[in-house]
Amino acid sequence: MRNVTKDTVSDAFMSYCSEETSPRLRFVLERLTHHLHSFAREVELTHEEWAKGIELLTRAGEITDNERNEFILFSDLLGMSSLVDMIHSPEGATSSSVLGPFHIPGAPELPVGGDMIGDNTGQPVVLSGRVTNKAGEGLGDAKVEIWQTADNGLYSNQDPKQSAFNLRARFAVAADGGYCLSTIKPETYTVPDDGPGGDMLKATGREPWRPAHLHVIVSAPGHRTLVTELFPADDPYLDEDPVFGVREDLIIDMAPDADRAALPSNLAARDAIQGPFAAIEFDFVLAPE
Ligand code: BEZ
Ligand code: FE
Repeated sequence: MRNVTKDTVSDAFMSYCSEETSPRLRFVLERLTHHLHSFAREVELTHEEWAKGIELLTRAGEITDNERNEFILFSDLLGMSSLVDMIHSPEGATSSSVLGPFHIPGAPELPVGGDMIGDNTGQPVVLSGRVTNKAGEGLGDAKVEIWQTADNGLYSNQDPKQSAFNLRARFAVAADGGYCLSTIKPETYTVPDDGPGGDMLKATGREPWRPAHLHVIVSAPGHRTLVTELFPADDPYLDEDPVFGVREDLIIDMAPDADRAALPSNLAARDAIQGPFAAIEFDFVLAPE
C-alpha cells in the first residue's frame, strides 16, 4: 500500500501480514496496532515523547540480565501482569496474584507441621488450613510452596547474610488436604526502583512499597496451579500496591493474639514459639485444569 495516511496506517500494517499468519496472531496484532495507533492519534504523540518512550525501553534492556528483568517490572507496574492474571482467574477458586521476581526453584521439602522460622527473628505466624477443590474436597496430593522476606524486608537471594533457602520451603499436605506450618510475619519492601521502572513511579508520585506478603504456589495433579500471595490486614500499603496484586480474599489478620492452646500438636516449632504469635486458618481452593 502506498500513500499511507494516519487513518489507513493500521489497515496497511495488516495488509502486509501474509496469508499464512495464524488466525490468533492476526487477531492479536490487528487489535494491538489498532489500539496503539489510536492512542498515538488521540494524545497527538510528539517526536520527543515517543523518543523518550524508546529511551525508556532501551534503558530497560540495558539493565535487564539473568537476575533482573526490567520489562517484567514494567509489565507489573503498568498493571499488565495483574490484568492478564485476572482475565484468566477461574471463578470460585482462591484469587491468584503476581509471582514476582524472587522465586527460586528447589526449596527444601518439609512435612506437615514443618518450620520455616529457624534462626529468623520476627513475629511467629502459624498458618494452617486445607487445600481443596471447588467442591470443598481435600486434595491429599497437593503441595504448598512458600517464600517471603526476612524481618529486614529482604529475600534470601537479595541478602548475602541469609542462607540460600532461608524462609523458603515446600510442604506436603495430609491425606485430607490439611497443611500446617510456622513462619514469621513478612515485612514490607520496595520494588526495585533504581531503574526506568522506578523513574516512572517517581514521575507519577507513586510509592515503590509493596504491602508485605507471603508468596504461595499451590499445586495438585489435575488442578490449575495457583500462584498467589497472602497479605497481613494491618499493612499500610494494601491500597497502593505498585503491582496491583491485592485481592480481598487474600488479606488475612496476622495480629499476634493467638492462644498457646491454638498450637497444633504436629507443629515442629511448638516449643520454640514463645511470646505473642498469630494463628491463621486459610483454605486454598484450586480450580480444575
Ligand atoms: C514481589 O512480590 O516480590 C514483586 C512483585 C512484582 C514486582 C517486584 C517485586
Ligand atoms: Fe514479593
